[in-house]
Amino acid sequence: MKTILVTGGAGFIGSSLLRYLIKSTSYRLINIDKVTYAGNLRALESIENHPRYFFEKTDICDTKGLVKIFDKYRPDAVIHLAAESHVDRSIDKPNQFINTNVVGTFTLLEASFKYWKLQNYKKKESFRFHHVSTDEVYGELNLKDPAFTEESPYLPNSPYSASKAASDHLVRAWYKTYKIPVVITNCSNNYGPFQYPEKLIPLTILNALKGRKLSVYGDGTNIRDWIYVDDHVEAIRLVLEKGIVGETYNIGGNCEVTNIEVVRRICEILSDMVPMPSRRYDELITFTEDRPGHDFRYAINSEKVKIQCGWVPKTDFLSGLRKTVAWYLKDTRTID
Ligand SMILES: NC(=O)c1ccc[n+]([C@@H]2O[C@H](COP(=O)([O-])OP(=O)(O)OC[C@H]3O[C@@H](n4cnc5c(N)ncnc54)[C@H](O)[C@@H]3O)[C@@H](O)[C@H]2O)c1
Repeated sequence: MKTILVTGGAGFIGSSLLRYLIKSTSYRLINIDKVTYAGNLRALESIENHPRYFFEKTDICDTKGLVKIFDKYRPDAVIHLAAESHVDRSIDKPNQFINTNVVGTFTLLEASFKYWKLQNYKKKESFRFHHVSTDEVYGELNLKDPAFTEESPYLPNSPYSASKAASDHLVRAWYKTYKIPVVITNCSNNYGPFQYPEKLIPLTILNALKGRKLSVYGDGTNIRDWIYVDDHVEAIRLVLEKGIVGETYNIGGNCEVTNIEVVRRICEILSDMVPMPSRRYDELITFTEDRPGHDFRYAINSEKVKIQCGWVPKTDFLSGLRKTVAWYLKDTRTID
């Protein structure tokens, strides 16, 4: 039975990954998470008593803590998701993004490398350090630009994307210099259940349900590629199992949508599921001053992961969005 250390497993994508891996594999899974404001242990309630699931409340910047965990569990792979992940927060307070995303990734790489180099040949060969990153490291596109490929230059524009770009570079360098087997995935915007309600989709759903303003930056024409979180976690598994060491894989939903369209779609779905008696949800939409360094467009070319790992996204945007809205409606505990 393989043992996998997952960092950031109490977060939105990490918890979805852990629930999926418990259900679909025989892996023993160790969740390393500091449980910041973005961590949510309720997202793990369905697996918390599973005999193949273990939780270590630890900061990835804590070298001693990490060394103990490597000694205790002797993993076959690391999937690294722990990060500060919200662009707006990175603009207001970048320090924690540098600590966790850069120093934390460095600390985790060092602990992984020290452990890895003591393993026998077979275990060294099959070991993987899988770094989960974002398409935002590539900067922004104009309307007519082709989608980002793995060869697109790194041009990060926010403190968040710069810190993730730095972490990607560290992972690559540890592979090139020390030969520790790594893979990197760069994914577009995720949505789905258990996303912390500071990100566009859950924030819009919850504000609409409370009859609050639905703020949209600028004129709302910024474009993102959206991927349902279950599709992303399946891609992570396939890249872990089939990806080529040292390679980077772009993962996208093949689904470019403007921010204003995302908000309008949510309003339509809510009108259908829980109509307001006297108003329309889209009357709550307001446009606010654009955020500094706001990337105009992201689009992902996922041909490489399709060809090399056999992955394609399965969920179309409207059905994924309906599932997401339905989940937030049912999970009233997230609505304070
Ligand atoms: N959400 C997206 O759309 C998206 C898209 C592409 C890539 N990513 C990347 O995927 C990863 C997960 O994203 P997410 O949306 O689930 O993030 P999230 O903010 O929901 O969760 C992050 C998790 O990391 C934990 N964490 C933070 N700092 C830590 C530290 N110092 N030590 C240990 N744990 C710590 C938090 O407690 C939380 O559980 C991140 O690396 C992010 O950059 C996210």
